[in-house]
Amino acid sequence: MWVTGVLAAAAVLTAPRWLPARVVALRGKVFEKVNGDDAITFPNADVGPDRFQEVYGHPAANGRSRGAGLSDLFWYWLSPGPEVHQEHLEAGPRYDDVARTTRALLAGPGDALSAAAARCAGRVLDEVVTGQVALVRLRDLMTPVWAEYFYELVFGEPCPREARDLIVGHADDVVTSLKCTGLRHPARRARLTRYLARRVAAGDVRRPLPASLSPAEQVHYLQGTFFNTAVVQMSEAMAHVLLALAQHPDVAARLAADERYFAHVLDETMRLYPLFGIAHRITTGDIALDERTTLPAGSVLCFSYPDYHATGYARPDVFDPDRWRDVQARTAHHIPFGVAANRPCPAWRLSPLALRGATAEVLRRVTLHSTVTHTRSLPSRGPCLLVRAGEPLPPRRLAVLGAFLRVRDRWEDVWRSVVQLVLGTVMVLHAHRLRLAGRYFDTHDTQGRPLRQEPPSTQEITE
Ligand code: HEM
Repeated sequence: MWVTGVLAAAAVLTAPRWLPARVVALRGKVFEKVNGDDAITFPNADVGPDRFQEVYGHPAANGRSRGAGLSDLFWYWLSPGPEVHQEHLEAGPRYDDVARTTRALLAGPGDALSAAAARCAGRVLDEVVTGQVALVRLRDLMTPVWAEYFYELVFGEPCPREARDLIVGHADDVVTSLKCTGLRHPARRARLTRYLARRVAAGDVRRPLPASLSPAEQVHYLQGTFFNTAVVQMSEAMAHVLLALAQHPDVAARLAADERYFAHVLDETMRLYPLFGIAHRITTGDIALDERTTLPAGSVLCFSYPDYHATGYARPDVFDPDRWRDVQARTAHHIPFGVAANRPCPAWRLSPLALRGATAEVLRRVTLHSTVTHTRSLPSRGPCLLVRAGEPLPPRRLAVLGAFLRVRDRWEDVWRSVVQLVLGTVMVLHAHRLRLAGRYFDTHDTQGRPLRQEPPSTQEITE
């Protein structure tokens, strides 16, 4: 009897070591089963890292949404308006129109794009760091920064507080549900939709919106691309950069002294913590791999960024920005913004510029300290201490705060992994039932034109 008690106590006490990884693996299995896609994940034994980009960039690997159960899940997480999100649009004139608009809104002189990010970061830090030290979660710290930044980019004016709160509420709801740490709240997202609808109707957007979209679709396009994807991706990227700096003070000190070092720091951060776990495509034609193997049209292909980024480097698990002195990003196994041949990220130019400006501003004002686990999906949102620059904490106090953060993080990880399993399963099943992508393509073609459900009656034909 007492042996069982001891074993149970040991299992509970050691849970932070073994439970989270197992729960994550189980969640992956549940997702696979419910989506039921029979997806092929690359790199694998047949297509190694050397041919990864060739398959990813193949002209037939260009289907985005139609024909994959996985699309129902992404549409569910990114709604409202997933049918007009650039990421989900099938190739064709409507996609070209939308992609052109995104490029126009993201264009601008490099210095101005960096300086605006520094300004937004400075404003938010002023609000948050009011004493010598502040305990924050880095993703939450950064979401208002990028909400203000993309508001300015879209509307060409400073972001009012009301708009910032709506954007933060929306972006946070999307990323929280994507990480399965909370459910989605359509009503919260709808509040931003209503706000944007008013602004679009008043003609307040800095550039013309895609003419091939209806006014309601234009609002959803803006909301999905700029106030969801842009804000979420930049907040996540910045959380990774800052957490890496908090855990590598030597790198942070070097960067504070020389901003040019940022390119290596960002490359290494995005190599080790790529924002995409997988990107998926549906093949629209056959892809012949060799004389004997062909991927038939309609296959669901998943491209694993972390697996690809872990190949071709010495000590791939180590964070080492200096490795980029000898590695050419062009030839390395490194695709932080996707592959040029197949719909790469339209913000591949803007993002590093803006991240550099914001990071420099943070380092000017605070030093960063964190003892938490740094993982790619970072469901903890990056707990971190910000200590005012030039006002260091006594080492003992820093050590005590560091120990507190470490212990809290390990135990939070235990309950969070269970929450993620339960909520993830609920959402995958809900998405499967709603079949947002499947139902859309039952009634629309790839360019969003309604399909006829029934053949026309004789009377309709003769009228
Ligand atoms: C550091 C920040 C960012 C990273 C690392 C990143 C990464 C990526 C990657 C890897 C893809 C390609 C995925 C695939 O092949 O399916 C992608 C696509 C995309 N990204 Fe980003 N992104 C970032 C910021 C942004 C921002 C600021 C925007 C703002 C508009 C944005 C909008 C998009 C869109 C619309 C697509 C879909 C492109 C298409 O299908 O044409 N991203 N991003």
